[in-house]
Amino acid sequence: MSKAAVACDAAEGLQAAKLQAAIGAELELKKCQRQSRVSSERSGLGHLPRATCRRKRSNETTSWISPAGFPSKPHQIPAQACARVGASRVSRTDICSLSVAPPTLPDALTEKANVRLLGDRMRALSLTVPLGGSIVEVGTLTGTLRRYMLGRLKPSRLVAIDVSDIAISMCKKQHADQIAAGTVQCLLGDSKKMLATLPEDSVDLMYIDGEHSYGGVCADLEAARTKVKPGGLMVLNDYYLMETLFMGWPRQASVAHAGRWGVYGVIHAANEFILRYQWELVYMTLHPRNEPDIAIRRPAARSA
Ligand SMILES: C[S@@+](CC[C@H](N)C(=O)[O-])C[C@H]1O[C@@H](n2cnc3c(N)ncnc32)[C@H](O)[C@@H]1O
Repeated sequence: MSKAAVACDAAEGLQAAKLQAAIGAELELKKCQRQSRVSSERSGLGHLPRATCRRKRSNETTSWISPAGFPSKPHQIPAQACARVGASRVSRTDICSLSVAPPTLPDALTEKANVRLLGDRMRALSLTVPLGGSIVEVGTLTGTLRRYMLGRLKPSRLVAIDVSDIAISMCKKQHADQIAAGTVQCLLGDSKKMLATLPEDSVDLMYIDGEHSYGGVCADLEAARTKVKPGGLMVLNDYYLMETLFMGWPRQASVAHAGRWGVYGVIHAANEFILRYQWELVYMTLHPRNEPDIAIRRPAARSA
């Protein structure tokens, strides 16, 4: 494990003791392998079988998944939602998001028979979102997805949110009639604030595609969480570890990537959210330019 990884883990409040145990186990393993190589060379017997040197299990790998398939104690995710310490301070190059893996989703969640892998994000929405529902799009830009959703999902209400004047002016221009009819709303402002104005339990599809930093996604998820109807869908775009597209030299070559919309943290934020609130995984999409969607469903119980 690199020094950078250790520093990031500590900065994020992950348990240093566990890290130390993992490092200790790594060092012990290497020492054992070195000794066994020397002794086997001396004896002329060749390398000793690998099993002679075993990595000591560190606490890190234990008790993560409860019998029910969810963590009995979410010790890989912050105690408070969105409290990945230091996340708000990292900018441009998010070394931590590269060296510290996001929390893993347990197999019990990903291997369910009804979790689907679909080829196209738009078709995926057509397959899973009820016609005539209520839709919110966080981050609407030029309206590619918005127009598709209006055309194919025939929502009774679509709210498009964006922090960009240009994006919202386009939205208003393109949908003047639907705005007058009360079907479409184009809201200018920061998504967290705009989401807070929506009624609770009112949205069938919440599509999150705004700020892509850990803090941004995490805050959007928290703000959107109770706005989605129980049983409703939340879809996150760009569910991948780091942005590699659309960047010019020299950033393209750098190890830590600053994304188009900020430092990346979509998987970190999404996985923490899924584990914390135990939302059901519905589908993932493949994307030719690596911009997959992940769809999760709010549990029917209102407590989630
Ligand atoms: C990837 S684009 C959205 C693309 C669109 N969803 C689609 O699929 O056609 C991201 C958008 O999020 C907006 N955005 C970034 N940060 C935001 C924030 N904090 N609040 C609202 N919108 C934000 C950007 O202005 C940009 O228009």
